[in-house]
Amino acid sequence: SRTAARTADGVLSIGGIPVTDLAEQFGTPAYLLDEADFRVRARAWRDAFGPDADVYYAGKAFLSKAVVRWLHEEGLNLDVCSAGELAVALAGGMPPQRLALHGNNKSVEELEEAVKAGVGHIVLDSFQEIERLAAVARAQGVRQPVLIRITVGVEAHTHEFIATAHEDQKFGLSLAGGLAAEAVRRTLAEDALELRGLHSHIGSQIFDTAGFEVAARRVVGLLAEVRDEHGVELPEIDLGGGLGIAYTSEDDPREPAEIAASLAGIVRRECAAAGLAVPRLSVEPGRAIVGPTTCTLYRVGTVKPLAGLRSYVSVDGGMSDNIRTALYDAVYSVTLASRTSEAEPMLVRVVGKHCESGDIVVKDAFLPADLAPGDLIAVPATGAYCRSMASNYNHALRPPVVAVAEGAARAVVRRETAEDLLRLDIG
Ligand code: LLP
Repeated sequence: SRTAARTADGVLSIGGIPVTDLAEQFGTPAYLLDEADFRVRARAWRDAFGPDADVYYAGKAFLSKAVVRWLHEEGLNLDVCSAGELAVALAGGMPPQRLALHGNNKSVEELEEAVKAGVGHIVLDSFQEIERLAAVARAQGVRQPVLIRITVGVEAHTHEFIATAHEDQKFGLSLAGGLAAEAVRRTLAEDALELRGLHSHIGSQIFDTAGFEVAARRVVGLLAEVRDEHGVELPEIDLGGGLGIAYTSEDDPREPAEIAASLAGIVRRECAAAGLAVPRLSVEPGRAIVGPTTCTLYRVGTVKPLAGLRSYVSVDGGMSDNIRTALYDAVYSVTLASRTSEAEPMLVRVVGKHCESGDIVVKDAFLPADLAPGDLIAVPATGAYCRSMASNYNHALRPPVVAVAEGAARAVVRRETAEDLLRLDIG
């Protein structure tokens, strides 16, 4: 993150605080979130897209009340995809108008809560949901603003489980076969729904902007068809999230300004060619805002050298606080955080304390050969989809999220306790 530095005696510091102090105060493992970095990244997206667009932070990447406050203060909107995320968004004080609700199978209760709260946009994902939401809105006497999520048929080059715009997957209504056009017809026919526009999300951890550009063209293409068929120009389009971040020095992410210029340019040109007014644009970055802001701090418990192979470094967390390595073959780096060392580098695999051999945090990395129990190590770029996908496997207690800013640290999400787990276990 931006404020990561080394103290004079070689200790990694975040937000001006040595991690040795943070470990003492908050224990390990812990997610250390650089608040200034979060705000700078949020603002960079906001500024890049400007006043004619909306930036919805994707709460699934990581959400807490503090994050909601920061987003509100920095002028961002928020995308939620469940009643749980909606509850945090409202508790954090985000005006409901600035929320969008996503999901391929929102429950009737979730739709009712969202309509009742006054959520700004609900993104429709199926024919059944059009009817379901219309009934909910009608019952509450509300005309609910909606977008329709369309599948644009782009193959995004990312892991299969996080690519979402090719045809054979569960999200959206596809352009091919006319499902998207039929969804527009059915939505326009519902008095209780106000169709504001179209939505596309092509996947996650994507570096190449070409996929977004194709998506933008196809979305505008459908806007033109809608105008031709129904005589309405839908005023909004949302091109989703998915911008990749650097997990290691090999990755070369695009800057928000570059993305904004490219997307806004394409939308403008395509609209001009089709004779359409330029719709209001929105995007939904999650990982690109929060991912780089956070590192996970672990304490080394054991170091097990396997002759001729590598050393296994076991830490006090693992797949319960970062499932991404096991689930997506995600690549992370690691650094010795509590001191520096002149020792030779040794090949290591950083593993957790869970009861399976796939419990890997960092698959291949180098750490100094004098690494010893008690050392602190830090894994960068764990702000997105780590705490939010954390589990209680083996009854692990999920780590706190510690926000550091200008020399002060506080837990914005505290560490779980055995009592937290036992409270749910009612015998
Ligand atoms: N908008 C929609 C509709 C989404 O489904 C997502 C992510 C986003 C925005 C935000 O995407 P981002 O900018 O964060 O890439 N657990 C996986 C990522 C799943 C992403 C799901 N949807 C991972 O850890 O890589």
